[in-house]
Amino acid sequence: SIKACLFDLDGVLVDTAKYHYLAWKRLAAELGFEFTERDNERLKGVSRMASLDILLSVGGLELDDAVKLELAERKNNWYFDMISKMDASEILPGALEFLKDCRENGLKVALGSASKNAMTILNNTGLTPYFDAIIDGTRTASAKPDPEVFTLGASELGISPEHCVVFEDAEAGIEAARRAGMRSVGIGSPSTLGAADLVVASLADMTVARLRDIAAGQQA
Ligand code: G6P
Ligand code: MG
Repeated sequence: SIKACLFDLDGVLVDTAKYHYLAWKRLAAELGFEFTERDNERLKGVSRMASLDILLSVGGLELDDAVKLELAERKNNWYFDMISKMDASEILPGALEFLKDCRENGLKVALGSASKNAMTILNNTGLTPYFDAIIDGTRTASAKPDPEVFTLGASELGISPEHCVVFEDAEAGIEAARRAGMRSVGIGSPSTLGAADLVVASLADMTVARLRDIAAGQQA
């Protein structure tokens, strides 16, 4: 049976990819090259420093670590300015309703995000009170597809992995769920998230009743 839901943040509960894109694009422009929306797809679910490495590879640049740290900080300052203006209107369709549905049905709820800015986003959108545990990029050493973020979330909730379901929009996140021994629901397209137990276009297509049907079906 399902006792807990663990949510990725960016691309599942809110669309911050557009802000990451604007900030990375600005950095690329300052460095003298173009960074497209298509390039940005490769950064979804990827940590800040790994994202910078991908960006620099697009520009054909190799820089030393001190410079890279400075660039990542510069990008993050622009990004932080943008997420500081976020409010509840930026919660993705169906996300708030599904979080409420989970709580009303007695399911535990955790966040499992690679972002070091997760608390700012949760607080500005008013989502913080819906979580029993919050695991973000300030609390993990290994990035998805490593299962650490979800394993830690489940242990903080006191629920064993086989009773957990992960909601993710990134392939690496679905793989992290699998390695953690958890079921997963992909948010997006089956072409990239085919490894998930179920794929939906958004949380607007999700209810706890539907989640229970899937779990029952798998056991049969
Ligand atoms: C999420 C996003 C990534 C982002 C990462 C780190 O996984 O999908 O695009 O790079 O978080 O975010 P941060 O806010 O710490 O730079
Ligand atoms: Mg994501």
